[in-house]
Parts: sequence; C-alpha cells; structure tokens
Amino acid sequence: TKRPATLIPGDGIGPEIVKSAVDILEALGSPFEWDIQQGGLAAIEESRDPLPQATLDSIRRTRLALKGPLTTPVGGGFRSINVRLREEFGLYANLRPVRSMVPGGRFDEIDIVLVRENLGGLYVAFEHYIPIGEDPHAVAISTGVNTREGSRKIIEFAFDYALKNGRKKVTVVHKANVLKALTGIFLEVGHEVAKKYEGRVKMDDRIVDATAMQLVMNPWQFDVIVTTNLFGDILSDQLAGLVGGLGMAPGANIGPDAAIFEAVHGSAPDIAGKGIANPLALLLAVGLMLEHIDQPDLANRLRTAIDQVLREDGVRTPDLGGKASTGDFTQSIIRRLGG
Ligand code: NAI
Ligand code: MG
Repeated sequence: TKRPATLIPGDGIGPEIVKSAVDILEALGSPFEWDIQQGGLAAIEESRDPLPQATLDSIRRTRLALKGPLTTPVGGGFRSINVRLREEFGLYANLRPVRSMVPGGRFDEIDIVLVRENLGGLYVAFEHYIPIGEDPHAVAISTGVNTREGSRKIIEFAFDYALKNGRKKVTVVHKANVLKALTGIFLEVGHEVAKKYEGRVKMDDRIVDATAMQLVMNPWQFDVIVTTNLFGDILSDQLAGLVGGLGMAPGANIGPDAAIFEAVHGSAPDIAGKGIANPLALLLAVGLMLEHIDQPDLANRLRTAIDQVLREDGVRTPDLGGKASTGDFTQSIIRRLGG
C-alpha cells in the first residue's frame, strides 16, 4: 500500500524537476500516493497566499512533502515561505548531506552530512533599532535564542542519524569562545549527549571559523557536523560549493509533525521552461525522503542509478558541463533502473 505524501510542484524550474522526480519514482516503484498542492507564485495567482491553507492542511495530514523551489515574491510583505513552513510544523532539523558525485569536481570523495538547527539561534530575529539624535537606525540589536532543550533535540538527531547511517563521528560546531552563552550552551549539551553515544559514535568540537578553513584545507576529516542555525546556513552552502554547487545539494526539514524534502537551490527563473534544469538535487532529496520512511533499499537503488548515469554513461545537464536535457537525464536514470 502506498503512503500519502504532499507534492508541491513550485515555481520556475520546479514543475520540470518535480516531473522528473515523479517519473523516476514510478520506475523505482514509488511508495508514495501524491496529493498535489500549490505553493509560491503559482498559489498567489489562485489564492493570494503563497502558502495556502489547503497546502498546510495537506502536509498536516500526510506529514510528508516533496517540494519544488518556491519563488518568494520581493516586496508585498510576504514572509519567507520556507521559514513559515519550519515554524508551522516545528521542523527543527535541517539535514544537508553532500557527496562528490561528478569526477573532476573541486574535491573528490567528499561525503559529509551537515545537521543544522532550524528554528532558533540568531534566526529568531528578535531585532530592533535604537535611535540616536536624527538617526532612527543608529544602533541595531539582535537577540539570539538557543535553549538547552532545543540544542539537545538537534544534537541527539545528529547522533541518531550517525548511528543509523553507519557514521563514525559528530563534530559540534560553535563559537563558545565569544558567544559564551548563546553557543556555549550548545557545546555544553553536545558533550552531554556525546556521553550517551560513547563507544558507538565519536564526538569532537570545533570553532566555526576554524571549521570553515578546515573544510577547504582538509574536508575529508569531517563526517557529521551539527551546528546552530546561522552557522549551519553558511557552512551548508560552503559544503555544497565543495562538491559542485547548489545543483547537487538536497535538503530535508524534519520535525515531530512533518518532514519536507527539497532541493536547496531556487526556482532558477533564468532557465525555466528551457528543459535544461538539473533534477539531481531534487532526486537526492527523494533519496532522503525514501530513507525517512524506512525504504533504504529504494534510496540505494536510486543513488546507484544516479551514480551510474553521471559516472559511467556520462550523461549530464549543462550546469555540470554536459549536453543532456532534463528529459534525457531522466530517461537515462529510468533506463538504469531497468525501466
Ligand atoms: P537559484 O538557485 O534559483 O538560481 C541561481 C543560479 O543557479 C541560476 O543561474 C540558476 O539557473 C542556477 N540553477 C539553480 N538550480 C538549478 C538547477 N536545478 N539546474 C540548473 N541550474 C540551476 O537562486 P536565485 O536566482 O537567487 O533565486 C530564484 C528564486 O528562487 C527566488 O525567488 C528565490 O526566493 C527562490 N528560492 C527558493 C528556494 C526554495 O524554495 N527552497 C531556495 C532559494 C531561492
Ligand atoms: Mg541558506
């Protein structure tokens, strides 16, 4: 029996890469029964809201969504759709694995999973200005919030992920030498949690700036990284850069009430409708989604087919230096799946 899941085609290249993912899933023997819902610009045209109630209701029911990129309109006072989704469903964990997939990239044989705290830190954005004299914005103040409970949840998530996926080490990334309270609490909880996993998963800790340097000098030393919201945002893009850019980066937003899977890149309006969008990041997100519902075999078959097409068949979309259209790439994967 199939499991209901919400499908949001999204904007720009969204519908093109979502179609690719759905077709490939069919060839794989999709465990999902899609409930198609709107989001982004597509939704504004219908309901004046980039995140309509029907879409939220669907995710609340299915607890599982695959989402194409959404265009957040500039101006008009719309809040980021992604932030709204995180808050609505308490999606406290942002999982961003990166892996070298195309030979000749900047770094070979990288395989790192970044786990980012998704709700707190400086991104709660409790901000205000203090006026001085004529200048209403003379001073800007922002307050970050990390709780012991929130830190424990995300760090335990990282250790559990490591355990479940045969990973050896979790690196807790912080800036406890300067932000002694805000990120000190995170480091402190990191050491507490690590004790529970002693003998099963190793733990070390590192200051964020040193991590940024080490990721470029010797990225192979990292396995799983867990960090606070702002650091995670920055380091996860850096990680994507190590393996060829956002076109290869999947993301999962996971909470107790739902999990939403997506490509990390945006709606790429510059190439929308041209049939050349790379569906890889979304396909890798599908892999995470399959793992999330305990279908690791399907996830592995998908990843093997992707590797074969990239490495052996040499079929790649233009952003990876190839000539394949989205459709060519999709068909190559389906062929490798025996379809
Ligand atoms: P973008 O990621 O859409 O595009 C940046 C560059 O990368 C463009 O040149 C684009 O053609 C290329 N690119 C991105 N994905 C690609 C793919 N799959 N295949 C081939 N080339 C690809 O970032 P941009 O232009 O800053 O944002 C466009 C829109 O997307 C904005 O409205 C933004 O708000 C939204 N966005 C949505 C996200 C989401 O829903 N998760 C995340 C990031 C941006
Ligand atoms: Mg980001």
